[in-house]
Amino acid sequence: MRVFVTGASGWIGVATVPHLLAAGHHVAGLARSDRSAAALRAAGVEPVAGGLADLDVLDREARASDAVLHLGFHHDFGDMAGAARLERQAVETMLAALEGTGRGFALAAGVAGLTPGRLATEEDRSPHEGPDAPRGGSENLALSWAGRGVRTVSLRFAPTVHGTGDHGFTAALVGIARERGVSAHVGDGSHRWAAVHVSDAGRLAARALTAAPAGTAWHAVAEEGVATRRIAEAIGQRLGLPVASISEEDAAEHFGWLARFFGQDLAASSTLTRERLGWEPTGPTLLADLAADAYVS
Ligand SMILES: NC(=O)c1ccc[n+]([C@@H]2O[C@H](COP(=O)([O-])OP(=O)(O)OC[C@H]3O[C@@H](n4cnc5c(N)ncnc54)[C@H](OP(=O)(O)O)[C@@H]3O)[C@@H](O)[C@H]2O)c1
Repeated sequence: MRVFVTGASGWIGVATVPHLLAAGHHVAGLARSDRSAAALRAAGVEPVAGGLADLDVLDREARASDAVLHLGFHHDFGDMAGAARLERQAVETMLAALEGTGRGFALAAGVAGLTPGRLATEEDRSPHEGPDAPRGGSENLALSWAGRGVRTVSLRFAPTVHGTGDHGFTAALVGIARERGVSAHVGDGSHRWAAVHVSDAGRLAARALTAAPAGTAWHAVAEEGVATRRIAEAIGQRLGLPVASISEEDAAEHFGWLARFFGQDLAASSTLTRERLGWEPTGPTLLADLAADAYVS
């Protein structure tokens, strides 16, 4: 198959591409810079020049491919509305290009915010609906296209897809702890974060793209919920910093944009993903990565 991947040069994309290549697929990847194009070429991926706003490129590449894996996302936490608009347009364009073909379209989503206060499962529907919702409501939009002849699949990643080289939420927490000289959690730290090692996330993305039925959501979750207090303690221990509790009122001042995630319970199950896709995570746990050299060397 020819597989078109957006975000192939990103954290999860880099971990997914080898699985697609090993399965014998030709992988073409969107590259918005010469640097990304060179990285893709070195990884055995055909670079396609363009960005997520280049809808003509997305349309052309989706039409020319047997499956599309959409992992690209403009992570601008200062302009989430702009990132959401870009995401929705890009997803709409690629879905329209695939309409009626029966081809696969897998997109990245998250377990964050799915079921506040309750363990999220694959059968929970995202509450994010419409263009003004987080991520432009792209998950529900995509899943709704299962009825229009596209084998749409949602890949819901844990809030921390961790490992050496991560620049996501856990890396941000480590950075904040260093900067502040204290490793903090919000309240009593009983809020939990689901977690998955990047190697397991990449393997699941490749498998779901080719094997999952239309209109389904899957959880890249190895650990259902690690207490945020234990995350803060592990960071404090590794950095030699004290651990402290920050009140909910002070969380935004301390954690900035990350407060709205670190102060929430983001736990999720992957029982159905394991049973139905035969996926079994094998990578290190989040606390093992924090205790080793993944974030501090
Ligand atoms: N990592 C996590 O912990 C996590 C958790 C939950 C959900 N997710 C979701 O999973 C997906 C992949 O995440 P990730 O961690 O791999 O993200 P990442 O490391 O930030 O990579 C983002 C990718 O998107 C590309 N990109 C960004 N803006 C673009 C634009 N305007 N035009 C074209 N390409 C653009 C980047 O290209 P360059 O290489 O050129 O920068 C890169 O390949 C995202 O949707 C993310 O929100 C991730």
